[in-house]
Amino acid sequence: MERPRMTSPDLTRANIDKIADLFPTVVTETLDADGEPTRAVDFDLLRQELSDHIVEGPQERYQLDWPGKRAAAFAANAPIAKTLRPVREESVEFDTTRNLFIEGDNLDALKLLQESYLGKVNLIFIDPPYNTGSDRFTYPDDFAVTNADYLARSGQTDDRGLRLQSNMEANGRFHSDWLSMMYPRLRLARNLLSPDGLLCVAIDDNEGSALDAIGREVFGERNFVAKVIWKHTEQSKNDEPYFSRHHNYLVMFRRGEDLGQFRLPRTEADNRAYSNPDNDPRGAWRSGDVRSPSPRPSLRFTVETPSGKVIAPPENGWRWSKESIKQKIASGEIVFRDGDSRLVRKIYLEDQVGRTPETVWSGDVAGTTRQANAEIKELFGATIFDTPKPTRLIRRVLELLALPNALVLDFFAGSASTADAVISQNAADGGKRRFIMVQLPEPCDPGTEAAKAGFRTIADIGKERIRRAGARFKDRRGVDTGFRALRVDTTNMLELERSADDLVQTSLAESVDSVKSDRTDEDLLFQVLLDWGLDVAEPITIDDFDRRRVLVVADGALVACFADDVTVDLVRRIAEKHPLRAVFKDSGFSSDAARINAEQIFREVSPETEVRAI
Ligand SMILES: C[S@@+](CC[C@H](N)C(=O)[O-])C[C@H]1O[C@@H](n2cnc3c(N)ncnc32)[C@H](O)[C@@H]1O
Repeated sequence: MERPRMTSPDLTRANIDKIADLFPTVVTETLDADGEPTRAVDFDLLRQELSDHIVEGPQERYQLDWPGKRAAAFAANAPIAKTLRPVREESVEFDTTRNLFIEGDNLDALKLLQESYLGKVNLIFIDPPYNTGSDRFTYPDDFAVTNADYLARSGQTDDRGLRLQSNMEANGRFHSDWLSMMYPRLRLARNLLSPDGLLCVAIDDNEGSALDAIGREVFGERNFVAKVIWKHTEQSKNDEPYFSRHHNYLVMFRRGEDLGQFRLPRTEADNRAYSNPDNDPRGAWRSGDVRSPSPRPSLRFTVETPSGKVIAPPENGWRWSKESIKQKIASGEIVFRDGDSRLVRKIYLEDQVGRTPETVWSGDVAGTTRQANAEIKELFGATIFDTPKPTRLIRRVLELLALPNALVLDFFAGSASTADAVISQNAADGGKRRFIMVQLPEPCDPGTEAAKAGFRTIADIGKERIRRAGARFKDRRGVDTGFRALRVDTTNMLELERSADDLVQTSLAESVDSVKSDRTDEDLLFQVLLDWGLDVAEPITIDDFDRRRVLVVADGALVACFADDVTVDLVRRIAEKHPLRAVFKDSGFSSDAARINAEQIFREVSPETEVRAI
């Protein structure tokens, strides 16, 4: 039986595959640092393929660079021996919901999601730490310091071993550290976006231009969509030396050209300028400008009206050529008014499909920070989270995308306002959007409102917000207000972690079984789902065969039995269900012969089933 990989994918290897697809001759074989044979790219050959179009070494080029960039790129590609463990007791409607809340470092989570959600996420909305000097995030670029003890002793890890630090402005790598944190995450996030997908990042002036620059590098210049100015506050701050800053940004990048046009629904206010004073059979219209916005001497010509009058050109000239104006007069788009003394261009309401959003968003269309705080207060009765975004802002982004079944990912979830927005928008328009939230179990500082209210971590706040926000629509049929809680944790498999020294200390019982003793069959199931690239939000049912638990995912997309004593009868009964995939625990078979026998049963009864043992 085939054995699953049980680590997140090695993205360097995936890149070599992509190069091999384009230029098969440049991929060769060599020995790695341990003397093991490995595939590699022959750069001399690649150089030949690209002829003169190469920059190398100290040669000047346009690029964004910072100390630690190379390490950050490495951090994005390096596989990890971790998994997602389900936490039933913290979930809501665990078995049926299609939403996920992942607790853990988002770098790990993004790696673990790579295969299951590759190219499947329609919207990534993130609101990362703005790098104000006091917000905390994990640094990926010190992976060379792998000694967990050192990090724990120096206070750089929390009780789960996460590296979590405030980035102080005095730190000589203030901006570099932020970039090193964001860069690998954006690269991994891009892989997850669907061809029609959109990334939308909330940011302020601290790192707004740096984000713009790495976004252009990771997504490509032509996939920059906009840097929207969001006026998040009306209150003036009189303690600012130069300006009272009233805006933040939403920086947007698309995955590629398949992103649909943005059209917001038209409101009464949008239509107010349209009327029909001349009973035009095409209905209401408004007059558009006929003048060129900039000087165009070649468009300065006179226009003769049907009654023979001559109209002089505007100072900058007309907007169109003589020929175009003639056509527009013939089609009725341009008419003469005020005794044939001027041209009027009619813009018809019936030609307006929706409304193209502007790049400046006011608080009354996109919400304000004050409203975001009020939302928290309304749900929790206290200000238990300091930097929420208003759901209105996120709902507006959902409206831009106009995908009622969008899969929405927020990997800096905070209080999970994105999940709240998804649930509220679905309740309002009948959509079936799904969400994946990722949030670090960042401890709530003692003495804060959150700590006083009994919240241990920000992840706990996020989960509780979804429970409370969902409760508002509990009775609404068809609105998925649940979520499956998952936690990033070390791998379930002993052998992936054990070094030779550790082996000596491992108990005999543990070394017989390759699975850690504290892991459940559902833990194993989720690791297998990730390994197979299946959606971890698929519904799960649990069957009982002779008191052995059999987990059935999505009606047989996968059937798993991790019992210790798998019988021939049980294997046959599973095979008779003709699942697409089946998985057992290696040590669940009493002998090699029993395992081979199981393979034989599948070949006879359900040859189409892919069978694995872990
Ligand atoms: C600005 S807040 C997001 C607020 C959120 N948009 C809301 O409306 O509640 C940024 C969040 O990112 C979290 N965070 C920082 N580093 C992280 C990491 N490496 N993985 C996951 N979450 C992280 C912080 O704990 C914080 O809650």
